[in-house]
Amino acid sequence: MAVDDHQATRLVAVVGAGPAGLFAARELANEGVYVVLFNRDIKPGGLAEYGIYPDKHKMKEGLRAQFRQILDHPRIDYCGNVTIGQNGDFTLDELCQMGFQAVLVTAGAQGTKWLGLPGEDLSGVYHAKDLVYHYNRLPPFSEQEFAIGRLVAVVGVGNVMMDITHFLIDRKKVDEVIAVARRGPAEAKYDRKELETVAAHIDLAALQAEIDRCAPLMRSLGQDPAQPVALVQSALQKAERLNSPSRFTMQFLSSPTRILGDEHGKVVGLEVEDNTLVLNQNGETKARGLGTHRILDVDTVIFAIGDRVDEAFGLPLKGNEFYKDPEPRFPIEGNSYEVYDPKVGCRMETIFLAGWSRQASTGLVGIARKDGTNGAHAVHNYLQTLPAPEKIDLTPLRWRLEKLGKPVIKRSDLIRLEEIEQKRAKEVGLVEFKFASNKEMLEAIQADLEKAGD
Ligand SMILES: Cc1cc2nc3c(=O)[nH]c(=O)nc-3n(C[C@H](O)[C@H](O)[C@H](O)COP(=O)(O)OP(=O)(O)OC[C@H]3O[C@@H](n4cnc5c(N)ncnc54)[C@H](O)[C@@H]3O)c2cc1C
Ligand SMILES: NC(=O)c1ccc[n+]([C@@H]2O[C@H](COP(=O)([O-])OP(=O)(O)OC[C@H]3O[C@@H](n4cnc5c(N)ncnc54)[C@H](OP(=O)(O)O)[C@@H]3O)[C@@H](O)[C@H]2O)c1
Repeated sequence: MAVDDHQATRLVAVVGAGPAGLFAARELANEGVYVVLFNRDIKPGGLAEYGIYPDKHKMKEGLRAQFRQILDHPRIDYCGNVTIGQNGDFTLDELCQMGFQAVLVTAGAQGTKWLGLPGEDLSGVYHAKDLVYHYNRLPPFSEQEFAIGRLVAVVGVGNVMMDITHFLIDRKKVDEVIAVARRGPAEAKYDRKELETVAAHIDLAALQAEIDRCAPLMRSLGQDPAQPVALVQSALQKAERLNSPSRFTMQFLSSPTRILGDEHGKVVGLEVEDNTLVLNQNGETKARGLGTHRILDVDTVIFAIGDRVDEAFGLPLKGNEFYKDPEPRFPIEGNSYEVYDPKVGCRMETIFLAGWSRQASTGLVGIARKDGTNGAHAVHNYLQTLPAPEKIDLTPLRWRLEKLGKPVIKRSDLIRLEEIEQKRAKEVGLVEFKFASNKEMLEAIQADLEKAGD
């Protein structure tokens, strides 16, 4: 912990050091607030560090440079390896008791969304987030085994599906990836840039046949079947063939209904129901089952259908998200950053939300950054309504952190860790090296501290 509070008169906890939390912390600190940034992971960055595809070195390094600068702010105290929540190191109530005047929750969307299908517990069924965390080396996922077979169905057709497909083709060199979409080609959510990473592996004849199958329905809805093919053709111009024999296909208008297993509990197929599309009142297409089923011969199923917030965190839930106050006191750009407790029938005065904790699985880093900044403005507006500020007291927090009985990672520890990992990368001839476990990271920091005699 920093000893100096830099004359701050307000004390705010930001929970989660992903893009939303980091940019929120900077905004608040620039307003004169002393911010303690609690982060579950040892390293900051959230999905910018552990989600963005590993080979996007330039983008990741650019973001890390911005994050370093934020963490150097004299009024931001980084506390890594500290989890907040009902089952965490501190609860939200405990933070308030320690003197925090407001808490901004930017913990991302750490919960897992499942469809509740028979067979989801079979060996070979995974959620994309866990696999993404695994290949980006976030402990403890980095140390878990993922038994990926040869024929993989990825459910969902967003950019996460593209990243997973990239990994399956490039690193696992599977025989086939089948992306399964409940709606049609026109509703696919991936963008051209991400398509480029895998486009060279698309079986173009199979894709054309699939789009031809969907074409009458698409035309009846005013959609142009030529467009999704044109997108692939355009992506192909910049596509690189990966060193892999993998084939990539897509199945549209198909909703998973059951995962089939063998006598050893391993996946042997995915049953899907054929869909048609209907328009709802807002003019959006919705999938409607036709009652006919098919089996896709796959040995692995990965759900890339978005995430939900962590239900164990301790805030009231509404669907896949935390419950937002429908009548916020401090709306920013028409959005609510405040939490509502339906059981009590009122808002939770001091708790605010931003980033993927406010809107799960929504948007790129830039959107999370803007949302974090907006969340900070909502918190700042709330702080203006409090009685005249007094000098803040960090003693209760320091005492509680000492009592935790585990290392709390400071900014100076991060600098050490980064230097150690960079040195290791050079030694083994890699662009990047990451320790796979918290234990290794903590031991490396400790050893370096001892060496320096600190
Ligand atoms: C697979 C994938 C790839 C992506 N690729 C790109 C890309 O290429 N380009 C792009 O612009 N965007 C990309 N995105 C989107 C981008 O990563 C997100 O928009 C952004 O990271 C969301 O920021 P956030 O701060 O809200 O949440 P997160 O980034 O999830 O950060 C949450 C932080 O909270 C911490 N935390 C969680 N629970 C707790 C707790 N209980 N207590 C304390 N701390 C906690 C975590 O340790 C983490 O540091 C990708 C997303 C995914 C899923
Ligand atoms: N490289 C990048 O830039 C990058 C990489 C990864 C992620 N991201 C961003 O991160 C955010 C999250 O991405 P995402 O891919 O997880 O989400 P997404 O873009 O919302 O895509 C989710 C996919 O899952 C499907 N789905 C959702 N619920 C379903 C259900 N119940 N049954 C069947 N299918 C279902 C959706 O279909 P419907 O459309 O029918 O709902 C959609 O195809 C996005 O903003 C994305 O752009 C960016």
